[in-house]
Amino acid sequence: MLELARRIAVEAAELAARRRAAGVEVAASKSSPEDVVTFADREVELFIRSSLADARPNDGFFGEESTDSASAGTSGLTWVVDPIDGTVNYLYGIPAYNISIAVVEGDANPQTWRALAGCVVNPVLGEVFTATDARGAFLGQQQLHVNPLLDLSQALVGTGFSYSSDIRVKQGLVLAGLIGQVRDIRRIGAAALDLCNVAAGRLDAYYERGLSPWDHAAGALIAREAGALVKGFGDLRADRPVTLAANPRLLAILEPLLFDLFTSAGLETD
Ligand code: IPD
Ligand code: CA
Repeated sequence: MLELARRIAVEAAELAARRRAAGVEVAASKSSPEDVVTFADREVELFIRSSLADARPNDGFFGEESTDSASAGTSGLTWVVDPIDGTVNYLYGIPAYNISIAVVEGDANPQTWRALAGCVVNPVLGEVFTATDARGAFLGQQQLHVNPLLDLSQALVGTGFSYSSDIRVKQGLVLAGLIGQVRDIRRIGAAALDLCNVAAGRLDAYYERGLSPWDHAAGALIAREAGALVKGFGDLRADRPVTLAANPRLLAILEPLLFDLFTSAGLETD
């Protein structure tokens, strides 16, 4: 399953990079004018979907650009796909976008699924992140381990913002409360890479409100297999309203702080 995810993700990454080199065009906007989809997002998703259908005709499929035609399948497995995560970076030519493919047991519900394998490919850097349940996370051949840092004041923390400007303003309040208590903040612009960066020790922690299943399905497994705790607030699993990731002891310090900041900013916590 992982080999299939890797092969298709690498081919999809080559396709996305070729289209990027030829020039990117916005096809439509989605939840807000800032939330765009390019023709390449759609073409890459079609490529991934048809490749998976050829190899695994009985599995379900849930992809960002075809939620209307998501299919449940009959095998009990579902492929959760973001054809291009970091679309705004892709549009501007910022070299931080990725193809994200995961296979989960169960349907496309992050609260109940069990992630089995995941692959995230950054075509620009040629980086291939992979993980399999209980078998570790890798960047290429190299096994990944999260940073063991325990001191929040020394933590480099990644986050992201909503496509809705009203919510972004509230997220700004959370950020204002956090930034003085950590080493610094990074907003890289691609949630799956943020999670892989936690796995690779390039970030100490990551939090974001309002991710969708395809944003974190593969990245959360990769971070977890590198030793991160990846969760929502309290008993919730990662997804909406929040995805938190860091080594478990650092997260035990960060989570209550973020919970209070979310509450004060008027952002939902459950
Ligand atoms: C977005 C990116 C971004 C995050 C947003 C996501 P997209 O995904 O991962 O970093 O802040 O929440 O929606 O739209 O580029 O696939
Ligand atoms: Ca996307």
